[in-house]
Amino acid sequence: MGAAWSYPRWIAHRGAGRLAPENTLAAFALGHAHGYRMFECDVRLSADGRAFLLHDDSLARTTDGAGEALAHNWTELARLDAGAWHSPRYAGERLPTLDAILGFCMRNGCALNVELKPAPGDARRTGEMVAAEIARRWVGTPPPLLSSFEPEALAAAAATAPLLSRGLLLERFADGWLETAQRLGCIAIVAEQQAWTEETAAAVSAAGLHRLAYTVNDDAEAARLLALRLDGLITDRVDHFRP
Ligand code: G3P
Ligand code: MG
Repeated sequence: MGAAWSYPRWIAHRGAGRLAPENTLAAFALGHAHGYRMFECDVRLSADGRAFLLHDDSLARTTDGAGEALAHNWTELARLDAGAWHSPRYAGERLPTLDAILGFCMRNGCALNVELKPAPGDARRTGEMVAAEIARRWVGTPPPLLSSFEPEALAAAAATAPLLSRGLLLERFADGWLETAQRLGCIAIVAEQQAWTEETAAAVSAAGLHRLAYTVNDDAEAARLLALRLDGLITDRVDHFRP
């Protein structure tokens, strides 16, 4: 195994999983209230380059907006309701900036996994701008772990802020995964839970990389992954798994 790993084992997915509107400050507060001290979130850029939290390319599922998020400047996105889709009690919740989330985590002593979730064609700009903002703003240890399914975003982050740790996201262990992770200077593999077997866990460990799984919502799967001695489990079920 490579360098010492100082992140908590349990990580709240999108703030508080499904209990609150994903990727909002309300979700982070709820995850924190359930004892979580590390969060995963999805970060992308507005047209004018503001980093903010949103999973989908489209605004339709989790806001009262429409169309592609990348088509809008931040002043327009900041007006959207990002909570009413979930439940009436969260009506009026806004899309948070990355800056607000970094502030929340630093104030509360929490660790963070920023998933670079670029819109199509925006991987390099996203990697550069998000990494630069985190490097400029973050104080404390450990700094956020950057992860992505997009090698181009991770490469841009590495070039911009080489000291920020990176993890390669994988849906499965396809040919070339290790070469990609090594080329990008990753310290971790964040893989879909079913991709973790005795063999893949051993191979990642042998390469000196840390091992994380998403999205772990089932007791039997959690037990299996803990028996494989994974370093991190990303879950929606913050009310069920005690961190
Ligand atoms: O970062 C782990 C996980 O969040 C990746 O999948 O689609 O939930 O962002 P997704
Ligand atoms: Mg994600």
